[in-house]
Amino acid sequence: MEHKPLPSIVVLDFGSQYTQLIARRIREFNVFSVVLPCTASLDEIRAAAPVGIILSGGPSSVYDADAPAADAQVLHLGLPVLGICYGLHFMTHALGGKVRPGSKREYGHAEVSVEQPSLLFEGLPKELSVWMSHGDEAEELAPGFKLIARSATAIAAIEDAARRYYAVQFHPEVHHTPLGSKVLRNFVFAICQAEPSWTAQKFIDSTVAGVRELVGPAGRAICAISGGVDSSVAATLVHRAIGDRLTCVFVNNGVLRKNEFAKVQESLRTKLHLNIDAVDASERFLTKLAGVDEPERKRKIIGNEFIAIFDEEARRVEKTSGHVEWLVQGTLYPDVIESVSVKGPAATIKSHHNVGGLPSDLKFRLVEPLRELFKDEVRVVGRELGLSAEVVNRQPFPGPGLAVRIVGEVTEERLRMVREADAIVLAEVRAAGFYQRLWQSFAVLLPVSSVGVMGDARTYASTIAVRAVESEDGMTADWAKLPAELLERIATRVVNEVKGVNRVLFDLTSKPPGTIEWE
Ligand code: XMP
Repeated sequence: MEHKPLPSIVVLDFGSQYTQLIARRIREFNVFSVVLPCTASLDEIRAAAPVGIILSGGPSSVYDADAPAADAQVLHLGLPVLGICYGLHFMTHALGGKVRPGSKREYGHAEVSVEQPSLLFEGLPKELSVWMSHGDEAEELAPGFKLIARSATAIAAIEDAARRYYAVQFHPEVHHTPLGSKVLRNFVFAICQAEPSWTAQKFIDSTVAGVRELVGPAGRAICAISGGVDSSVAATLVHRAIGDRLTCVFVNNGVLRKNEFAKVQESLRTKLHLNIDAVDASERFLTKLAGVDEPERKRKIIGNEFIAIFDEEARRVEKTSGHVEWLVQGTLYPDVIESVSVKGPAATIKSHHNVGGLPSDLKFRLVEPLRELFKDEVRVVGRELGLSAEVVNRQPFPGPGLAVRIVGEVTEERLRMVREADAIVLAEVRAAGFYQRLWQSFAVLLPVSSVGVMGDARTYASTIAVRAVESEDGMTADWAKLPAELLERIATRVVNEVKGVNRVLFDLTSKPPGTIEWE
């Protein structure tokens, strides 16, 4: 998006698994932060309007033949620099010091003593618990540097305050360094003198202005919408910029949750005044799904059918209102940043999996208003835009919907059972105040019938599994320890109210080894 960049802290990525976390922590201080590959050119770095530079950690040793390297000139832009772990080694090496392979690999918790007063540790205790993860260590500091903190076995922090160079061997960005956020805060405010100007409202204003400029005074855009937070926020931002020149396509794929097709339309149309093209294509999807029980085939069928419908709708909109040049996608920042960016600046961008990879012959140009945001920031922006709590806090729901929550064939009858059971799970989870604490909570219909007794009659009916997980990003997840009373209420209601179900199970599997969905 082309709009004037806010002053930022630029994080140069040397390949650490924690690089994104550094940017997130800084944005929590309302200071904008961007992650660039360490190979970024000085022009690219300057274009991000940096007021400070952070050099991330990384898995390599500075003496490796293919050790990732930044242009050493980044150290001479006149900006404050903070090196973290590999960043410390890189600075030391580049500025004339020496790094050696550590005698002992340090990994995990460590205690650090602050030995010299430093702006970096201002207001912090002299003894700090930190998270270390490194093999190499600085053997000889570069000229001008002094040691400000050490751990039992290594240098923990150094500085050259005159040139505003700082470096730490530990990881201040992870939760395992409890006061790490304060260290970053000192760097950002006391050393870089950044202004806390990155607010949701600023983001909205600059994004809306940017989209308006990009799409132009007459351009038209189309957007696939699911009712989830990403597509709703993306569409609302673009709608603010170009009004009804945006058409949102909302497809009923037949595997949505109870009343979802109606409820989502209602909320997007009446509350957000979006121009919604709602397409009820349930029949088409369910006909194609008939007789299919293989999970990946279900996904493919739903993905392809979705693309076909979206394509038809785009052409229909073109016929009635004129050429549509732009496609709005809710791509988020983690999809944009490549953690292997040390291999080069050519970050390949993942296609937005909710949209199922739209075919290239649609020939749209992309508008991606959320490509600078993390998921939690999307929620904050959504709130600021006035989206309902229902949309903003909605648990993720997979594109292939209930089809991957019916183990085996998708039939009208089996859909009814999982849909009713799902509605009960969600209602009870909400009533007990757990909805927002859970990453996802839902019902799965199993291809297992078992014997039961209801009243005087024996039954032979279906089984529902209840799945509830806690997670930060869906990559790993813990099964949620829901109270027995809540599980009991869910089980009782499901068996009493969902015809055809006589048994309820609770899934005790975390991820890994399980996945969140059953298919
Ligand atoms: P798993 O089951 O892989 O799920 O642990 C991780 C997260 O991804 C969601 N998910 C999907 N989302 N299309 C989607 O849009 C899919 O095919 C799909 N499969 C899984 C899942 O709900 C969870 O949040």
